[in-house]
Amino acid sequence: MTSIADRPVGRATRHAGPDHLVLSEHPVFRRFWYATGFAAAVDTGPVKRTVLGVDLVLWRPESTAPVSVALDRCAHRDAPLSRGWVADCHLVCPYHGWEWDADGRTQRIPQTPGAPLPTKSGLTMVASQERYGMVWVCLATEAEGGPITGVPEVPQYGAPGWRAVPEYEWPFACTAMHLLENNLDPGHVAFVHRNTFGDIDRPEVTDTVVTREPYGLSSYGEIPVGGRPGEVGTTLRCTVSQLHLPFSAHIHITYPDGLQHVMVKAITPVDDRTCLLTQTVLRTDTEADRPAADILAFDDEVEAEDRDLLESLPADFPLAPHLNAHAAADRNSLAIRRLWTDLVTGRWTPPAG
Ligand code: FES
Ligand SMILES: [Fe+2]
Repeated sequence: MTSIADRPVGRATRHAGPDHLVLSEHPVFRRFWYATGFAAAVDTGPVKRTVLGVDLVLWRPESTAPVSVALDRCAHRDAPLSRGWVADCHLVCPYHGWEWDADGRTQRIPQTPGAPLPTKSGLTMVASQERYGMVWVCLATEAEGGPITGVPEVPQYGAPGWRAVPEYEWPFACTAMHLLENNLDPGHVAFVHRNTFGDIDRPEVTDTVVTREPYGLSSYGEIPVGGRPGEVGTTLRCTVSQLHLPFSAHIHITYPDGLQHVMVKAITPVDDRTCLLTQTVLRTDTEADRPAADILAFDDEVEAEDRDLLESLPADFPLAPHLNAHAAADRNSLAIRRLWTDLVTGRWTPPAG
């Protein structure tokens, strides 16, 4: 690796985009897939989730059925369907008891059985799929062009030699941009995580190599750390970090002893100011080598450290480089901001196929 101090910080071009990134001002964000939490958390009882300020109802018509997702608003008198229930494989509205099937088709209006159904009585369905043990949704309708990409690829999930440790759904009172940037920010580890795995006596980071990819970007870097889940002792994280637009991260760590540790970080904007992180870890060791409980406890503590710092930042996310100072260790952050700028100004091209 070259010395980080020898390289220029970033491309010296003028910023052609908004100063701050406000998600609701850019419909393109509706065209991506977002995780709404773990699939195992959705049973027949309807649950409410919010993505980009849009309230959704998630339910299973029966416990073995795929998850159905619709706007959380009844066409009759606007009641939140997440306050309803499932009976005989139908979602039931809590206000007047109208019922719908898994595809949102109206099946029963109890006050007038057998009468013709009113027009527009059906639910407004939202595209959904279950991947990596999570429920993913895309808000964009056909008229909006539908999804612009697929769900991020995670080749290690279900592959031989890898085990999955589903972790938590963590809410953050900060923008999805702040949380994503933090996850690809090598410089914060020694300080924000000084009480867990950060090594405050070794704050230097190696140069990062950032590459634009069809799905977003990837970055390689090495960070000295003071330990890893369930273990004490300094080691080195050699990390390939992928950003899958707009906010999901795939962070692949290889340790000197060969252990590989992948963090699937599905970051979902709940609205302009808050987000949800749904995280699963994939490892090449076994439960006997390192119990899942150790990994869960470690990451819960680490995320709490990040949350404590991120929630203290100003609420708006600065997109324009001139709004902040940048050092050589911020190469990832600058590349991410340029990528998001390209996305919201129409200069980003989705991958073919
Ligand atoms: S508001 Fe849903 S059935 Fe009346
Ligand atoms: Fe962190």
